[in-house]
Amino acid sequence: MDKLAIIGGRALYGEIPISGAKNSALKLMAASLLTDAPLTLSNVPRLADVDMLLRLLEQHGAAHAFENSTLTLQAKDIVSTEAPYDLVRKMRATFNVLGPLLAREGKAKVSLPGGCAIGARPVDLHLKALAAMGADIDLDEGYVIAQAPDGLKGADISLPFVSVGATEHTMLAATLAKGETTIENAAREPEIADLADCLNAMGAQIEGAGTSTIRIDGVDRLGGASHRVLPDRIETGAYAMAVGATGGELTLKGATAELLGAAWAALEEVGLYLEETDGGVRVKKTGARLKTIDIVTQPFPGFPTDLQAQFMALMATAEGAATIKETIFENRFMHAPELSRMGANISVDGQTATVRGVARLKGAPVMATDLRASMSLVIAALAAEGQTMVNRVYHLDRGFERLEEKLQRCGALIERVKE
Ligand code: EPZ
Repeated sequence: MDKLAIIGGRALYGEIPISGAKNSALKLMAASLLTDAPLTLSNVPRLADVDMLLRLLEQHGAAHAFENSTLTLQAKDIVSTEAPYDLVRKMRATFNVLGPLLAREGKAKVSLPGGCAIGARPVDLHLKALAAMGADIDLDEGYVIAQAPDGLKGADISLPFVSVGATEHTMLAATLAKGETTIENAAREPEIADLADCLNAMGAQIEGAGTSTIRIDGVDRLGGASHRVLPDRIETGAYAMAVGATGGELTLKGATAELLGAAWAALEEVGLYLEETDGGVRVKKTGARLKTIDIVTQPFPGFPTDLQAQFMALMATAEGAATIKETIFENRFMHAPELSRMGANISVDGQTATVRGVARLKGAPVMATDLRASMSLVIAALAAEGQTMVNRVYHLDRGFERLEEKLQRCGALIERVKE
């Protein structure tokens, strides 16, 4: 398993191109199953998760061509409506093929994704929405077996709490349902509007994406389209926090300020200078030590759970004490003990972590069990004295495109150690 060797203490200067958003690209790719025409997606990040979903789409019958960052998918015929355990268990976003397969073919058999390192992450809301649209759903030996031989029907769906996945999944399936579907208490993450834009370009009739009420008027068929994936707001936030931890100045090329939601204000409040420019976002940290602030993770536009771990690394060397409350996932503090191994002063009580800033972190061998937690260790390592070995780099390969290359170019001492 590869590791990253990082020698900390160097300020970051230069330009980092922000990739297309992983969490948008994965749902857009699933949308290709809704049509027999080609779907061309540009600005697609080349990530392990994208490759994994490509393998699944391929076995459903989607051919693809991936050149530079442009991916063309075409599912002329669906050759299999079954998504096997081996391809679904490694990545939850693969579960999103269920709705499109069901909508197009009237049946699907998709393995349940199971729990993961950050929490149980059930899919009950996804299944309830599909059932409300008339699907007959059975669970058998770890598989969801769904049937709607006469097609899906529009339905009124009110989510009991905000779920990005359930909102997207319902939207995907409802595009080809008969009649109108409404989703109340829909997630408002920018990736939802990105998916709606692409589906509308394919001929869907979706209104209100990006607000709490989404209306989808079902159509008989969808066609092909070309769509550019929006920039990755989590990658943007993570590199901005890296500057906060090390000092320096970076231009995050292609990034958009509004996508950061509450994270933008939080970064300014702790003492970073942020500016939206023509080509992206400029972030700068001058001399003074950062301040601590309290944050609570919330659905968009609140502070994103996907930046919580990185923010904890930032607070580890800020002045004062910060509380960080995680409200989205029940087990998303596994980076805390690893950061503590580097000298951070963190105590966790239930869903709240208290971080008391220390003057300096020290390099250590560390590892994390998920993607964003791994990035928090990279940020801590860039700021720490001495060498840090970040183990289990495959987590980072799932979600941060060309991480070490992007950081090396800005002066970081970071090397991949192959094993
Ligand atoms: C998406 O996950 C992202 N993943 C996550 O990013 C992100 O953390 C999350 O949204 C919140 O922003 C992808 O887009 C691939 P949810 P998702 O449904 O859709 C519970 C990363 O690091 N829930 O909004 O799975 C759930 O357990 C990943 O890139 C149910 O109880 O998140 C959680 O507590 C990690 N039943 C809460 O809702 C359901 O049927 C919100 O989850 C669905 C969700």
